[in-house]
Amino acid sequence: MSVTVRVPAKVNVQLAVGGARPDGFHDLANVFLAVGLYDEVTATPADRLRVTCSGPDAHQVPLDRSNLAARAALALAERHGVTPGVHLHIAKDIPVAGGMAGGSADAAGALVACDALWGTGASRAELLDICAELGSDVPFGLVGGAALGVGRGEQLTPLDVGGTFHWVFALADGGLSTPAVYREFDRQWEGLDVPAPQASPALIEALRAGDPRALAGVLGNDLEPAALALFPALEQTLAAGTDGGALAALVSGSGPTTAFLAEDAASAESVAEALLKSDTCRAVRVAPAPAPGATVIAPAV
Ligand code: C5P
Repeated sequence: MSVTVRVPAKVNVQLAVGGARPDGFHDLANVFLAVGLYDEVTATPADRLRVTCSGPDAHQVPLDRSNLAARAALALAERHGVTPGVHLHIAKDIPVAGGMAGGSADAAGALVACDALWGTGASRAELLDICAELGSDVPFGLVGGAALGVGRGEQLTPLDVGGTFHWVFALADGGLSTPAVYREFDRQWEGLDVPAPQASPALIEALRAGDPRALAGVLGNDLEPAALALFPALEQTLAAGTDGGALAALVSGSGPTTAFLAEDAASAESVAEALLKSDTCRAVRVAPAPAPGATVIAPAV
């Protein structure tokens, strides 16, 4: 008896970052797009909370209570007075510490899986509430598709997407710590007035129209200069993807994964090939967008 939930990675097509707030977080206008790269979280009854992980990056995933999926199960159990006796297995395909919200996806997946397994019957609003407590990117893992996130990124408004966008992702050798990238952002802006973050109407329209050329012209990530300062080799990866025919290239979230928007599926394959040949990354993945949010694919029997 187990429940398996599939949950997508994200790319930020716009990440507008404001100044640091008194609580240390930054106000954002964050346009999330879920992409077809997935982790699967399987919840099975067990004596106690246990986390295991499989996949090429599995050795980098913490299996103790610092794992966001474990924290999600504990938060749901506590709210509903349930004993958190569950084995969570994460089949990991989303790059770890890559700026694609893999850990956040696992938390959203664990929440949906445990809710189904325990029959807690939590409302969507309650699940979103728990997600927001767990991390800024976790609510988006639940909803998927495309959404504008404001506040620290957790207050979501769904956005329409009028077609399929074809993405290529270059995985870097090593990770970047999200807090470290935000600290570097603060350092770069020290003494300057950071403009209030604002979603770009042209970008929202390009998503709605399903127009990759229009979207390519307006993609933006305010964390990119900070990520590049901490990981300068990413400049070469970005150039290799653009030389290989990508319409646009940017750092995904806080990096170090780099994201390339292609004209169509065939062009995505040739961008991927050029990136692999360039020897500027450790692996390359092709993924369409948008992708659905956390979805039960194998329910309890
Ligand atoms: O919310 P989450 O735990 O994913 O955030 C990780 C870290 O990223 C935070 O501790 C903070 O340093 C930084 N962050 C931020 N402003 C945001 C979101 C994240 O400064 N809006």
